[in-house]
Amino acid sequence: MKQQSIRLFIVATILFVFGLKNASAADNNLIENLLSQMTLEEKLGQMTLYSSGEDPLVPVFNPSYKQEIKEGRCGAIFASITPDSIRYLQELAMQSRLKIPMLFGYDVIHGYKTIFPIPLAQAASFNLDLIRKSAQVAATEASSRGINWFFGPMIDIARDARWGRVSEGAGEDPFLTSKVAVEMIKGYQGENLSERNNVAACAKHFAAYGAPIGGKDYNTVIMSLQELNDVYLAPHKAAADAQVASFMSAFNEINGMPCSANRELLTDILQKQWKYKGFVVTDFATIREFMNHGIAENEEQCAQLAIQAGVSMDMESGIYKAKYVENQLKSKSIDIEKIDEAVRRILTIKYRMGLFADPFKYCNSKTNELMTANNLTTAREIARESMVLLKNDKQTLPIKSDIRKIALIGPLADNQADMLGTWIAQGDTSDVVTLLQGLKKQLGTSAQVEYAQGCDIDTKRTSMFNKAIALAKKSDVIVVVLGEKGDMAGEAASRGNINLPGVQTALLKALYATKKPVILVLMNGRPLALEEEMNYCDAILEAWQPGTIAGDAIADVLLGKYNPSGKLPVTFPRCVGQVPIFYAAKSTGRPSDAKVRYSSRYLDIPFTPLFPFGFGLSYTTFEYSELSVSHPEIGLNDEITIQVKVKNSGKIAGQEVVQLYLKDDIGQLTRPVRELKGFQKIQLNAGESKVVTFTLKPSVDLIYTHADGTQNADAGKFTVFVGGNSDANLLHSFRVK
Ligand code: GLC
Repeated sequence: MKQQSIRLFIVATILFVFGLKNASAADNNLIENLLSQMTLEEKLGQMTLYSSGEDPLVPVFNPSYKQEIKEGRCGAIFASITPDSIRYLQELAMQSRLKIPMLFGYDVIHGYKTIFPIPLAQAASFNLDLIRKSAQVAATEASSRGINWFFGPMIDIARDARWGRVSEGAGEDPFLTSKVAVEMIKGYQGENLSERNNVAACAKHFAAYGAPIGGKDYNTVIMSLQELNDVYLAPHKAAADAQVASFMSAFNEINGMPCSANRELLTDILQKQWKYKGFVVTDFATIREFMNHGIAENEEQCAQLAIQAGVSMDMESGIYKAKYVENQLKSKSIDIEKIDEAVRRILTIKYRMGLFADPFKYCNSKTNELMTANNLTTAREIARESMVLLKNDKQTLPIKSDIRKIALIGPLADNQADMLGTWIAQGDTSDVVTLLQGLKKQLGTSAQVEYAQGCDIDTKRTSMFNKAIALAKKSDVIVVVLGEKGDMAGEAASRGNINLPGVQTALLKALYATKKPVILVLMNGRPLALEEEMNYCDAILEAWQPGTIAGDAIADVLLGKYNPSGKLPVTFPRCVGQVPIFYAAKSTGRPSDAKVRYSSRYLDIPFTPLFPFGFGLSYTTFEYSELSVSHPEIGLNDEITIQVKVKNSGKIAGQEVVQLYLKDDIGQLTRPVRELKGFQKIQLNAGESKVVTFTLKPSVDLIYTHADGTQNADAGKFTVFVGGNSDANLLHSFRVK
C-alpha cells in the first residue's frame, strides 16, 4: 500500500507540475504506461465485472471472484452494498500486482436510500431541475456508502404499455427523454467526476430495448434505420454528448444482431460517429446469451463476437478469459488493439474519477447523508410534481375543507410495500409514508379518515367488499387507491392485459353505486387501460409509484396544498388492443377518421387514446393565445422565435407545462403528425399572463435521418402547435428555405 501511495504521489506531482493544461497528456501517458505493463490476463480482468453476492436479488456466477480480484482479474464489482465490504474488496484489489482500483456498480434507478418516484413519474413532472436534484441526492447518498458507479439512467424509449420497463424510463418521446437523460447524468456525475459525491453514470439500455415485439421483455427488435436513429438512439446520443461515463449494451437483438455483438452499434455509431470516449458494459450475461440467440456455438465465439464488436466490460458472463482469447489472438480473429482500447476506456474513467489517486475515496464518508430532511423534501417536491390529474368532474378535487368524513379504501391506500416500485436499491419499505398516514397527519382532527382495504391487488377475493361499502356509505367522500404491485412493472414484468388487476374495478363500481363522490388515486408503473373505470369515478389522480414520501405528497395534492401540474410522458390507451400507441405517429395514406370506413381505424374500438401524451389537468385553467413566429421564412442555419401568451384563467395559482410541437408538412420521408420540440414549465398566479418564448434552428432542431442515412432538415412548410398537451390546436407555420 505504501509503495502504491508513493507511486501515485509522484504521478500526482507530475500532473500538478505540468499544470491542468497538460493534464490530459500526462493522464494518457499514465494510462498508456499502465496498459503497457499489463498481461493479457490483467487486461481481460479489467474487462470483467462480477457480482459480490451480497444482494440476494443478484446471483453470484463466480464463487472464486475474491481470488480473481487479488490476482488483478476483476475490474469491477456489482451489488456490493456495504461500505465495509466495498473497502474489503478494494483492499483485495490493492494486493494485486498493478493495484488497479475497482469500480463498484449498483442499480440506483430512482434513489439509493431515499427512494424517489419511479423515473416515468419523474418525467411526468417535466421539471428538469427537480429531476437533476433527485439524481444528485441519489449520488450523494450512494457514494457516501462506497458505491461509485450507477447502472443508470435508463433512457429506453417505450411506446408499448405491455412492456414492464416503461416504468424505468422517461416514456415515449425522444425529446423529453433526451432532456431527462442529460439532467440525470449531470445529477450523477456533477461538473467534475472526481468529486467524492459524484458517481459514474451508465446510459442504458443500448439500444432500442423498449421496442420488443409484443411488448414481451427481451424479445426481438426489428426497425428501420430512420426509427432507430431518430427515436431510439436520440436519448443515447444526448447522453454521449453529456459525457456519460459508460453505456450498457442491451439484451435484445436489433434486426438480427444482438446489441453486445453489434459492431455497427458499439463501434461504428458509438465510437466512430459519436466520438464517444467512455466504455460499454454489457447487460447481465448478454455475452453468454449469444448461444441462446444462436449466433455463437461456444464461449470462444462469444468472446470473439463481443470483443470485436466493441464491448469493453462483460457483466457476469465470465467469458473474457485468456483460455477463450489467447488462440484467437494468435489466429487474428481477435485484435489485441480491440482489447487495449477496451481497457484504455475503462482505465480512463477510473482515472477521471480519481480512483487512482485514492482507491478508498468513496469509503471514507463519516457523515450520514441518508434520508436527511433535505433529501425527503426533494422527494416530496418531485413526487407532488409528478402526479397527473386525469379527471376532475364537478371540481371534486381538491377535497374541500368542510368535508368531515373521508372513506379511504383500496389495497394501496395503507400499503408500504408497493409504494417504491421497481429497483428499490437500499430503500426500506418500513420508511414509507402511506396515504392513510399522510392524510391523518395533515387532517388531524379537522376530518375523520377511516380505512378499509376492500380487496387485494391481484386476487379474486371479494369478501372485503361489504365492509368497504358500509364505510363508504357513511362518508362524505370516497378516496379509492387502486393499481399495480411494485413488481408488476420493471424487468421481466410484461403484462398481456393492462387493466387494473384482480377485482379492483368491481370494487370501484360497487363504491360508485353508493352515489358518494369517488376520487380514484392510481398507483402503477405503466399506462393502464381505464376506459371502464372512467365511468365509475368523479376524479382520477395518477400518482404512479411515488416513493418513500408517497403519502405526504399525495395528501398535499388531494387536500389542495399543491395544485397538480404533472403531464403524461406516455400515452394512455383505451385498451390493450390499441398498443403500441403514441402521439408522434405517421398520418398514413388514409388518416384515421371515425367517419370514413376506409381510413386507418378499428371496427370495434376508437383509434384515439384515452389520454394523450402531455395531458394533465390542474385545479385552475390555462388559456393560450397570440401564437406568433418571428419570420415567415428562414434558412437552415437561421433561428426562429416562437411566442405564445399563456393566461391563468382560473381562481388559484398553478404551474403549466407549455408544449411546442412541430410538423414537417412535406418530408423526403413520411414524418410524424407532430413532434415535441420544446417545453417550459411556468408558474402563474390567478389571472396572471406570461409570454413564453421558444427558439429553434432548423439545422439542429428539425433534422432527421433521410433515405440515404444522412441527418438533414427538409426545406418547405412547418406547422407549429402550442398548448398544454399533444392534441394542442393553436397553430401557426413558417417555411424553411
Ligand atoms: C438487469 C437489467 C439492467 C441492470 C443489470 C444489473 O438484468 O437489465 O438494467 O442494470 O441487470 O442488475
